[in-house]
Amino acid sequence: MKILILYASKYGCTEDCTNYLKDKIKDNLKDKLKQEVKTINLKGAEHVDLQHYDWVIIGGSIYIGKIQKEIKLFCEQNLQILLTKNIVLFMCCTTPDQESEFFSKNFPASLRKHAEKTVNMGGELRQHKMGFFDKKITAMVSKLEPKKNEILYKNIDELVDFLNKKSS
Ligand SMILES: Cc1cc2nc3c(=O)[nH]c(=O)nc-3n(C[C@H](O)[C@H](O)[C@H](O)COP(=O)(O)O)c2cc1C
Repeated sequence: MKILILYASKYGCTEDCTNYLKDKIKDNLKDKLKQEVKTINLKGAEHVDLQHYDWVIIGGSIYIGKIQKEIKLFCEQNLQILLTKNIVLFMCCTTPDQESEFFSKNFPASLRKHAEKTVNMGGELRQHKMGFFDKKITAMVSKLEPKKNEILYKNIDELVDFLNKKSS
C-alpha cells in the first residue's frame, strides 16, 4: 500500500493528527515490506505527484465553517486524478455535531461520493499560539456554543484498522 497523507494546519493540531496517523500506520499495517506512507503539508508545497500512490488521505482544519483554501483548491484542481485513487477525507474541528455539514460544504460532491471513508479527527483550540483576532473569535464562539477540545484518537485508530483490513 502506498499512502499519501495531504493536510493543512494553522496551529499544528492537524499536523499532530497526521503524524500520529502516519506513525500508527507504520507500526500497525500488515505487509510492512510493501507499505509506504508519506505526509505533505499543502501549505507551501510546490508540486505533489499523486501518480505513485494508491491511497490518498486528505483533509485540514475548520475555521468559521471552512477548510483551508489549499485543501479546497487541491481537491478541485486534481479532482480527476483523485477520482482514480482510494480516498479518505478527514477534518479537524471542535463541533462534531456539524461534521456532516462541514464535509458537504468543503469537499466536492463527486469526491465525497467516491471516498472510501470520512474521518473526524477532533480538534484542539491552542489559544497560547493564537493571534489577537483568532483568540477573540474563539472566545466569542465558545460562549455561544460549547466546544469539544480534544483530538479523537479513537477515530484515527479506527482508520488504521480500516486500512489494515483493506491491505489484507
Ligand atoms: C478562529 C477559529 C475559528 C474556528 N472555527 C471553527 C468552526 O467554525 N467550527 C469548528 O468546529 N471548529 C472551529 N475552530 C476549531 C479548529 O478547527 C480546531 O482548533 C482545529 O483543531 C485547528 O487545527 P489546526 O491547529 O491544525 O489548524 C476554529 C478555531 C479558530 C482558532
